[in-house]
Amino acid sequence: MRLLIDDAHIELINKAYEFYPVDGVTTNPTILSKIGGNPFDTLKSIRKLIGDDELHVQAVSRKAEDIVEEAKYIINILGGNTYVKIPAIPEGFKAMKMLDCSTQILYTATAIYTPMQAYLAAECGAAYVAPYVNRIDNMGFNGLEITKQIQDIFENNEMETEVLAASFKNSQQVLELCEYGITAATVSPDLLVAFAKNSAIDEAVETFIEDFESFAGKGKTMRDFK
Ligand code: G3P
Repeated sequence: MRLLIDDAHIELINKAYEFYPVDGVTTNPTILSKIGGNPFDTLKSIRKLIGDDELHVQAVSRKAEDIVEEAKYIINILGGNTYVKIPAIPEGFKAMKMLDCSTQILYTATAIYTPMQAYLAAECGAAYVAPYVNRIDNMGFNGLEITKQIQDIFENNEMETEVLAASFKNSQQVLELCEYGITAATVSPDLLVAFAKNSAIDEAVETFIEDFESFAGKGKTMRDFK
């Protein structure tokens, strides 16, 4: 499963990239609102930091024709491996069809709450669909099951669209999708850290170091011996 960061804070993305295997960054208008200012200043900084990795940026126009123009504008500024996030609503589907016929622009169908939204977006030619696991749960449905159902629909219909699962509240949700073979998930920097955060792990590692130092000397490592 590819792992992306769902945030726009450059320091947090930098830290995630430094310590963990990260494949890209996703943003949405709410995430950008937490940074403020010119969104392209933020997005250009992220692009510079992550190089050619995937960057997902949402179009916010309401009409299909405007979404298409906004998509072209975003790609023009942020470059090739940028995916334009387009909401899976009627104007969004119309925009997806227009993009599919006229351009090479890659797009991620977003705000996916139902399998049939995902199916329609895949039929339009979306590269990814992004089901919102936790938000679906909060509506009284099962976000994980719906995400798996979407993956099954794509596989059973030989569709090339991939699932980029989003909106998680805990690592168990991500683990379950990882086990199922979901292509990609985007998580907050905090959740990424929580994947391997456990006092038992820290204690075990600390004990190993202390045991080594007990015979080798404080601060010594294997490099102090030949
Ligand atoms: O970017 C869309 C998705 O990740 C939203 O997540 O946590 O706001 O439900 P959340």
